[in-house]
Amino acid sequence: MSIPAKVHRRGAELREAIDRHNYFYHVLDAPEIPDAEYDRLLRELESLEQEFPALITPDSPTQRVGAEPVSRFGVVRHHLPMLSLANAFSDSEIVDFDRRARTRLGDIDEIDYTAEPKLDGTAISLLYENGKLVRGATRGNGEAGEDVTHNVRTIASAPLVLRGSDVPRRLEVRGEVYMPKAGFEAFNERARQRGEKLFVNPRNAAAGSLRQLDPRLTASRPLEVFFYGIGELEGTAHPERQGAVLENLRKWGLRVSPLMRTVRGASGCLEYYRDTALVRHELPYEIDGVVYKVDSTEYQRRLGQVSRAPRWAIAHKFPAQEELTIVRGVEFQVGRTGALTPVARLEPAFVGGVTVSNATLHNMDELRRKDVRIGDTVVIRRAGDVIPEIVNVLPERRPKKTRPVKLPSRCPICGADVVRAEGEAVARCSGGLSCPAQRKESIRHFASRRAMDIEGLGSKLINQLVEAGHVRTPGDIYKLTHEQLTTLERMGEKSADKLLAAIAQSRKTTLARFLYALGISEVGESTATSLATHFRVLDAIMEADEAALQAVPDIGPVVARHVRAFFQQPHNQEVIQALLAAGIHWPTPAPKPKGTPLTEKTFALTGTLESMTRQEAKARIREAGGRVTESVSAKTDFVVCGEDPGSKRDKAGRLGVQILDEAALAAMLAPQNGKHKSA
Ligand code: IVH
Repeated sequence: MSIPAKVHRRGAELREAIDRHNYFYHVLDAPEIPDAEYDRLLRELESLEQEFPALITPDSPTQRVGAEPVSRFGVVRHHLPMLSLANAFSDSEIVDFDRRARTRLGDIDEIDYTAEPKLDGTAISLLYENGKLVRGATRGNGEAGEDVTHNVRTIASAPLVLRGSDVPRRLEVRGEVYMPKAGFEAFNERARQRGEKLFVNPRNAAAGSLRQLDPRLTASRPLEVFFYGIGELEGTAHPERQGAVLENLRKWGLRVSPLMRTVRGASGCLEYYRDTALVRHELPYEIDGVVYKVDSTEYQRRLGQVSRAPRWAIAHKFPAQEELTIVRGVEFQVGRTGALTPVARLEPAFVGGVTVSNATLHNMDELRRKDVRIGDTVVIRRAGDVIPEIVNVLPERRPKKTRPVKLPSRCPICGADVVRAEGEAVARCSGGLSCPAQRKESIRHFASRRAMDIEGLGSKLINQLVEAGHVRTPGDIYKLTHEQLTTLERMGEKSADKLLAAIAQSRKTTLARFLYALGISEVGESTATSLATHFRVLDAIMEADEAALQAVPDIGPVVARHVRAFFQQPHNQEVIQALLAAGIHWPTPAPKPKGTPLTEKTFALTGTLESMTRQEAKARIREAGGRVTESVSAKTDFVVCGEDPGSKRDKAGRLGVQILDEAALAAMLAPQNGKHKSA
């Protein structure tokens, strides 16, 4: 069937528009159109191609997912070997690296470097001939890798066609394929639900996904790519600077790290390292360090390479986030609500920049799933500020005689029975506030910054106060005397005065903080705020039955049951009476405004706002009668996007949720002008 000229034109138009939007989205990180519109363009092209199959070109954006599985991988020889990098772990190694390079280049004063993040993924080489993607290969042993063209074609940020009129005749680009953190977690979550094998980390996930025989599997994995250099090049002169190489790549539509900088000397490198370490945990993907490359390609040539690594580049690694160590024992910690958390006592290991000797196992189900036993060799991970955790066991290193960990039948602190409610992952000590561990934890929570905010009343002091019998319930805090305090270890007159002043000051609070401070199971800050805004007075909350509680936005049957059960306990009622008698008070929140544009509307926020913090924005939305949720769903009415929005924005686009910028939110929040004020 011949294709009508009109269809031909529209096909070409659509392909071009889609490529252009891909470029804006992936390379410039500045999409011009909402995702929904992009999807419409793609669907239109798909249906055109379905009707006129002759319209399909191999590099049509629709051709990313369809290919047939291969039976095995072909071998690709790299004309120029794919090198690896020498690693440095300290500042002085970078200073030495720079000094060696300067000496070799004839005692020059200063070298400029390009610096960029070292992505934690898997290396890839893509070959473009006359601007068309013809081959994708893994690094393999550096000399030869595997042909993964069929899989590379499914990665949306790997262009099938290069942009611009000056693309080289032959261009081999090199980069790193990775799986973003969010995609990795979502992938593992789905695998867990289906009882499938989980990936240990995003790097393995990327490498494993790229080495699939069936490209449809790869297509279903959220892979992305950043390009960092070139191999073969024909038809264009090699730029004189690495920085210019990357600019060219970006111009041709290849995604380059937006964090790439040119820096001067070792000091510039070290400054870049520190800056990057600060933002590392905010990046949507894992990086394990930064890479410095001598910017001048002439210098690169003169410096050459040793064995498999260039003398002109080095990786400056962050302290390892994962390490191997041995489990010496498993103990159970008792938390505020009596929950028993298994904690592994480890052979101390240096990971993420600190020595770690404990790691959480979350709960018994998690412990069983990972099958952690005493004596096992395990991978531990510490990322950012999060509590170190056990990632997995190395079964091949398991000693012959190990005993599985058993849940104790009695609380290790107070000896009360341990109970595990049907269907719950958590086992709890039944001792309630007669258990010193629960007492200490509930008081620590009560005094914490986001609750009653009693400055200076930290864990150590609370332990002493509880052990001395001065504090049994939160109300006792307000009965503490100067004498009692000064008899404690390391507590002088001045500190005692200061603490008493902080305690006195905490009497003035808000209903939401007070509710949160009570430590009701399942009631976090945001639920406490919802309760306070909905009911406005404490008595109403204490009297509410489960149905009334469920009328509060965000409160479902489980939370309602916990809240009801808490307030029905005579002991808890006594604690509350004692606190009120001690003078704790708060202003009654203003009645919920009716009929503003925000009433009953649900908002989610993403990105950085300019005129207010996110906390302020949330508070103002709530004051105006709106609701705020942490995640976007079809029930969300608006997603407010600040600078650098996260995945919530994409999700809003996909679900067709209305997106507001900061100005639009401000306009909604502004006091309503009377209707008479017309133009
Ligand atoms: S440059 C000669 N730049 O790290 C230059 N590599 O140990 C060789 N990697 O195999 C690589 N991010 O997979 C370079 N910005 C970056 C990188 C990077 C990650 C990986 C790459 C390479 C390995 C080297």
